[in-house]
Amino acid sequence: MQASVIILAAGQGTRMNSDLPKVLHRVAAAPLLHHAMAAAASLSPDRTVVVTGHGAEEVARAARNYDEDALVVLQEEQKGTGHAVDQARALLADAPGEVIVLYGDTPFIRPETLEAMLAARARHAVVVLGFEAADPGRYGRLLTQGDDLLAIREWKDASETERAVTLCNSGVICASARTLFNLIARIGNQNAAGEYYLTDVVEIARAQGLTAGVVVCPEAETLGVNTRQQLAAAEAAFQTRARAEALENGVTLTAPETVFFALDTVVGRDAIIGPNVLFGPGVTIESGAEIKGFCHLEGCHVSRGADVGPFARLRPGAELAEDVHVGNFVEIKNAILDEGVKVGHLTYIGDADVGEFTNIGAGTVTCNYDGVMKHRTRIGKRVFIGSDTMLVAPVTVGDGALTASGSVITEDVPAEAVAIGRARQVVKPGLATRMFEKLRALKAAKAKV
Ligand code: UD1
Ligand code: CA
Repeated sequence: MQASVIILAAGQGTRMNSDLPKVLHRVAAAPLLHHAMAAAASLSPDRTVVVTGHGAEEVARAARNYDEDALVVLQEEQKGTGHAVDQARALLADAPGEVIVLYGDTPFIRPETLEAMLAARARHAVVVLGFEAADPGRYGRLLTQGDDLLAIREWKDASETERAVTLCNSGVICASARTLFNLIARIGNQNAAGEYYLTDVVEIARAQGLTAGVVVCPEAETLGVNTRQQLAAAEAAFQTRARAEALENGVTLTAPETVFFALDTVVGRDAIIGPNVLFGPGVTIESGAEIKGFCHLEGCHVSRGADVGPFARLRPGAELAEDVHVGNFVEIKNAILDEGVKVGHLTYIGDADVGEFTNIGAGTVTCNYDGVMKHRTRIGKRVFIGSDTMLVAPVTVGDGALTASGSVITEDVPAEAVAIGRARQVVKPGLATRMFEKLRALKAAKAKV
């Protein structure tokens, strides 16, 4: 079914007690807004409109960051959810098919739920997403009669009997573009808050002889973030679900409760994830790869058969081909490690290309930064980089070459050559004993004074 989506994201989020616009606070390493946009994207919408207000520029940037085709409209003054939706009129009034309104601060609406709402449009002109609230608090109440939704009553405007209703409004609403904007044009602000309530479209629709209905979803989906407490609860809820999904998809998690996924983490079947692993944004782990305990990964790709950690850090642009081994206390950034490369211990590889089956010794550092610019290190195939090699970039080491351990490599090394870049060793027989004798004598002399 053809659909467009409006995401309301103009609110300040006063209760977050923050300089950051609410929808930019992160859950699973992604702004709340991206979660709502991901739900929207599952419908392959015709158009996606984000309504911005507080922190409009930052919010618009985040929206385009997720989807460069996202349309953004500014609601200069926050006069209510109905007024917010009306800002999208110019962009959507002629849109074919359906419009679904989502909230930028409500991250967990599932694609299936939105599909169910679109399907329910066959029976009702307006479809509202509701939930049975454990604690209905100040949510708007859904007043129903049989299959019909009669009205949405805001808590502030509700009578005692209406407040006793536990079926609540999630805020998500669906109608055809035509119907929605026709109804919105008739909303007034004669209510306890003096706001233009989107929720009024239900009664307006009924007055026009149209019907409205409810699709009910689990309360967990409608969890909205208004406070830091709720942000933390949302993070926990996301992780619980992501862990369960990973296990279901055939991923081994040795200690699931200690693994943290990002919104866009992809882990293949038969991958093994050890304890205390944290995924930042943009990570893909292929089938059968292993991430051992205490690793921190973001913006990287780990291929089949590779193993990483324990205690490794893969930063953006780390590309590990098949069967690469990255061991403990190794950091990789913006570097391509071809098949079978081994980087076992205590090493920094940044801004580098490493050819297949090359071995990088312990304590190697690509010195990629000269204080002003970053430079690239190119290491060929089947190279042996001796332990404690400093590779001062830009520098190239040819195929099959070797660097002596402790070398500072400042010049290119041709293929198959050995490069030694360190002071020659000097051995002085007996000197250690003589030195210690002298020192002890000195100490004894001092003690007497
Ligand atoms: C709204 C619903 C209520 C529902 C609740 C669910 C209305 C009138 N009420 O109430 O029935 O139970 O959500 O959480 O719709 N926003 C704008 N511009 C505005 C006003 C709001 O973009 O002018 C955005 C907010 O940033 C937020 C969303 O719309 O993302 C909801 O607004 P909020 O003020 O939180 O509505 P509630 O009073 O919670
Ligand atoms: Ca709210």
